[in-house]
Amino acid sequence: MKTFLITGGAGFIGSNFIQYMIKKYNNINLINVDKLTYAGNLENLKDIEKNKNYKFIHADICDKVAIENIFKQYNIDYIVNFAAESHVDRSINDPETFVKTNIEGTVNLLNISKKYWSVDEDVYRDGCKFLQISTDEVYGSLGKTGYFFETTPLCPHSPYSASKASADLIIKAYFDTYKFPVNITRCSNNYGPYQFPEKLIPLMINNALNHKNLPVYGDGLNIRDWLYVEDHCKAIDLVLKKGKIGEIYNIGGHNERTNIDIVKFIVSYIKENVDVSVEESLIKFVKDRKGHDKRYGICPDKIYNDLGWKPETTFDVGIKTTIDWYLNNKSWMKNITNGQYKNYYKRIYGEN
Ligand code: NAD
Ligand code: TYD
Repeated sequence: MKTFLITGGAGFIGSNFIQYMIKKYNNINLINVDKLTYAGNLENLKDIEKNKNYKFIHADICDKVAIENIFKQYNIDYIVNFAAESHVDRSINDPETFVKTNIEGTVNLLNISKKYWSVDEDVYRDGCKFLQISTDEVYGSLGKTGYFFETTPLCPHSPYSASKASADLIIKAYFDTYKFPVNITRCSNNYGPYQFPEKLIPLMINNALNHKNLPVYGDGLNIRDWLYVEDHCKAIDLVLKKGKIGEIYNIGGHNERTNIDIVKFIVSYIKENVDVSVEESLIKFVKDRKGHDKRYGICPDKIYNDLGWKPETTFDVGIKTTIDWYLNNKSWMKNITNGQYKNYYKRIYGEN
């Protein structure tokens, strides 16, 4: 029975991953360690919180004692490190928190897992693996043509992507220096249920439903490469099982869209299916984000050729499923935007 330490499992992708794994396997243990920042929400996991194979621990990945206690208590086989400050706009206003969690927190997890997994010099317990959930943003920005390959030099621009790139380099150093068993995945922009409504897609859905302005940065022609979150979860599961130690895998599905196209699609879907009074006139072009990356585009050939992964959800299906999920879960949206999930946490765990 393998035991997974999932960090940041109360966030968007982490909670989707925990739900995916619990449904798929009945012979694994999942320990979710999360600091519950504004982005962490245990309500995301309420369907599985009583599962005997799942446990939540409220802790910061930077906390040496708390993380070491987890390793003392449990025989951890895998770490999947989702925990991060993840929003570019916040990183522009407050880079320090990003350095702390995304870099120092990752180093702390590396040091403690290295200590507990070591059986001899540069030799580790069989089957252990540290998987870092990184991002395509570490590669920087593309022009009109070309793609990000695993070999593309790192050239991050925002404090967020610079902190993620730094963590990637430290992880590479642990592999090169100590032969520590690692993989890094670099995925493109995710969308789907449980995403905090500060990111483009849930923000626009929430604002449109409430007849609020839809703020599009700059000319709206920046391009992101969108992947449905469940496809990302499937790729992570595969890399954990079959990824060659020390390797980096890009994850993406050649699904590039301009921001304005996404926003217009959301408006037209809501107008057609929910509220005829929602109009494109809600769209407001606002001051551009500082250092705004123009285009992201992942080449996923390596994970396709080496591990046999490819995305299964088309954008047409994924985006409608996503909008419908937010429509059917308005109380989730209300709770998370009001910080009401803290009450949920208190009710379940009886502490702050
Ligand atoms: P998120 O912001 O929704 O969730 C982050 C989670 O980490 C939250 O639950 C938060 O409480 C927790 N956390 C933050 N600081 C912590 C700390 N110090 N200790 C413990 N827990 C802490 O982020 P997400 O969108 O789910 O992203 C998860 C990971 O995937 C991140 O590492 C991100 O860089 C990466 N990623 C995200 C995307 C995307 O499109 N969202 C794409 C590629 C990669
Ligand atoms: P975001 O969801 O923040 O993801 P990332 O910056 O990590 O790619 O933003 C996606 C794109 O949408 C990005 O080009 C910035 C743009 N954007 C807006 O135009 N308006 C907004 O209100 C937000 C949050 C993002």
